[in-house]
Formats: sequence, C-alpha cells, structure tokens
Amino acid sequence: MDVEALRAAMIEELWRLNAVRSDRVAAVFARVDRHVFAPGVPLPEVYAATTAVRTKWDERGAPISSISAPQVQAFMLEQANVAPGMRVLEIGSGGVNAAMLAELVGESGAVTTMDIDPEITDRARKLLDAAGYSRVRVECGDAERGLPEAGLFDVIIVTVGCWDIPPAWTRQLVDGGRLVVPLRMRGITRSLALERVGDHLVSRSAEVCGFVKIQGEGAHRERMLLLYGDQIALRFDDDTHPSDPLELDGVLARERVDAWSGVTVGGMESFDSLPLWLATVLPGSCLLAVDSDYQPAAAGGPVMADEGGRWFPSAYVVGDSFAYLASRRVRPGVFEMGAHAFGPHARPTAEALVEQIRFWDRHYRHGPDPVISIWPHDTADHLLREIPVPGDSATASSAVTVIDKRHTRVAISWPTATA
Ligand SMILES: C[S@@+](CC[C@H](N)C(=O)[O-])C[C@H]1O[C@@H](n2cnc3c(N)ncnc32)[C@H](O)[C@@H]1O
Repeated sequence: MDVEALRAAMIEELWRLNAVRSDRVAAVFARVDRHVFAPGVPLPEVYAATTAVRTKWDERGAPISSISAPQVQAFMLEQANVAPGMRVLEIGSGGVNAAMLAELVGESGAVTTMDIDPEITDRARKLLDAAGYSRVRVECGDAERGLPEAGLFDVIIVTVGCWDIPPAWTRQLVDGGRLVVPLRMRGITRSLALERVGDHLVSRSAEVCGFVKIQGEGAHRERMLLLYGDQIALRFDDDTHPSDPLELDGVLARERVDAWSGVTVGGMESFDSLPLWLATVLPGSCLLAVDSDYQPAAAGGPVMADEGGRWFPSAYVVGDSFAYLASRRVRPGVFEMGAHAFGPHARPTAEALVEQIRFWDRHYRHGPDPVISIWPHDTADHLLREIPVPGDSATASSAVTVIDKRHTRVAISWPTATA
C-alpha cells in the first residue's frame, strides 16, 4: 500500500468533510506519520478519514482507548486554534494527536499529554520517541486534578468524553485561553471550544462527536429506566430523572401515538441543533436506547418506528408517558420530522414535542446556535439568565437552560427568537 496516496486521499476527504478548514491543520496531517502510532493496523484503516483505531477495551468489551478518527482530530485542532509558541495540554494520549500539536506549536512551544492509564502512556512515550517527538512530555495520572506543577496552558484539549469540567482545567488556562472538550449535556455530546473569561468559560463553537467516557474521579454513570426487558430503555444523564419511575411501568404495552410536524429534512442534511433545542426546552429530557438487535416482529414487542421511518434518541418523559423524535419518508430522500409516544397521555406529549420541532425550524434551524457557558457551581441564577448572545438584539438571551453538574453550572443560552 502506498502511504503517500492514502495520506493524500485522507487529507482531501478531511477538506471535503469540512473537518480540516485551514492550511496549517492540513499541513500537520501531511507531516505526521499516523501509521507509526498504530503498529500492526492495516494502512487503509489508519488513514481512513472517519475511522477511529481502538487500542484498548474494558472487561465487558467496551472501548476505553483509541486513536481518534482523523475527522475528529482535525475539527478539534481547528477548534483549538493552536499557534506557534503556545503551551498545550492534551488529556488522553494516543500519541498521534500530541505529535500534530507539537508540529503546530513548533520548537518554541511545549506540548504535554496525560493519560490515566500507564499502559497507554508507556505506549505513547515509545511511539512518540520512535516518530521523532521526544520533546512531547508524557504524564500518567487522573486529569481531574490537572497538572498543578505544570503551570498555565494556552490551550487544553480533552480527547475523552466528559460529563463535567473540573475546576483545575479552568484554573490552569490563561485568561482568554481555550479549552476544547467533548461535553455531555443531557446525554448529548458536543466538542465545545470554550474560551476562559475570568471565572467562567464561553463557547465559540460546538461540533457533533462521540468519545470513550472519562475514567477516574470524573466518571459519571447515567441512570437507566428499563421499559422492555433490557432491550428498550430511557437514559437519564443529568437532573431530569422522573421522581416516580414506576408511573411508566408497562407503558410500551399501550398503542403508539404518532404526531407529524410538516417540517422536512433532506436525507443528508444535518439537524445538529434540534436535539440540543429539545433537551433545552423539554422537561424530563432523556435518550431512548433500543438494542441494535431488537426485532419487534420476532419478539411481538412494540414497534418503535414503521417501515421507511426512523427514530432518534431524543426523548422526554411527562409523568406516565413519554415521546421521542421520529421521522417518516415523504418522498425519496426527504423525511418529515415528528414524534412517537406511548402512555396514557401520549397524544399531548407527542404534540408538545412536535410544537418544539416547528419552533426550532422557524427560529434556529439555520442558526444562530446557542452559546454554552460553564460557571462555578455557586453562581447565582440571575447571572445565568442574563447571558448576552452574540448577534442578539436583546440584552439577554430568550431561553436559558441550566444543567447542574458536580463542579459547574452549564448554561445553554438561545438567542431571542424573532417572528
Ligand atoms: C480517545 S483516547 C485519546 C486519543 C488520543 N488523544 C489520540 O491521539 O487520538 C481517550 C483516552 O483518555 C484516557 N482517559 C480516560 N479517563 C482519563 C482521565 N481521567 N485522565 C486522563 N486520561 C483519561 C483513556 O485512558 C484513553 O486513552
């Protein structure tokens, strides 16, 4: 296999995917030999733009370490906006991303990469040396406490899925510095580029992504509400868990109710901001999880979506009923968004979801996106309600949801909707 041809094709694909957006980032993908960091892995896999190379699994077979897909590395490097001379901390070490960061900061900058797993740091050290990046510092430890002895960083780039942002990360950033972090909010993960503004962080961009979950002190377990054996469940990640889950007992035995919005999307069109909008405005917001091998016909169980239709994980619970985002094909390549619902109050629950799809379509579908800001856990409510949103004519945003985490309050602020 010709490495140069594979590399060129990968970079072309990264431009096409809008993951690479600058010549600087394209250049580091050209300079760093990815295959040196993935010994034994077939070259086409190493250089596939959208494929992560898994390197370690836990005892239940879930991946806990990987070399992230080039696509994800590319948009996170763009989000991080790294310049020559900067001091950068990478959390989660695969080797290859640290090498690209070292190229971006140049000889006058400094890169440290840390990982909780000694096997991963040993591997990263060995591979970075082999690839000629001995100047990258590799540290082993739980990133929850940061690296206090290392001083301040211009950029911290977190390459593992987080539920919260420990205070050490904000503390170790210079004012105006950037934290790029895949953050889970009501189960929805976005890679946020956050800028430090005094005691808090404000988002400059958000990208859809998926990551292995953080281990150690920052690990957070979601709560599962099983609805049909262990094949269909609702997953609650934050503070929206129903006070009386027993109310939903047997809910899937009832007939499904559908409601349609009249809002259509093309098959390839992204609607990234819709799940975030629904999670912001719908109380009891959660995710619907259905086993990939669930077969309703064979099991005689509930049909979650009809032929030609799809269901999406965005869901919400109101008392004894729940609804989730769904679509149906209206003509080739075009889908109408709507809701499926179960429960004694399925109709109003589905209608309320559909109303929010229409609202999103009218006001937010084509931007502006929400601003996400991260505040210390003791920040007063009124401060969070007055966050101005860039480009918004009003002095405060119109819809703010505050998600309380262990260390922080995450405010999702949507600009004022204009008629
Ligand atoms: C997706 S991998 C990192 C990918 C890497 N940056 C690359 O070059 O593509 C995520 C890593 O985060 C590490 N990790 C998980 N929890 C951590 C923690 N609390 N502190 C530091 N590292 C952690 C895992 O051991 C895993 O190796």
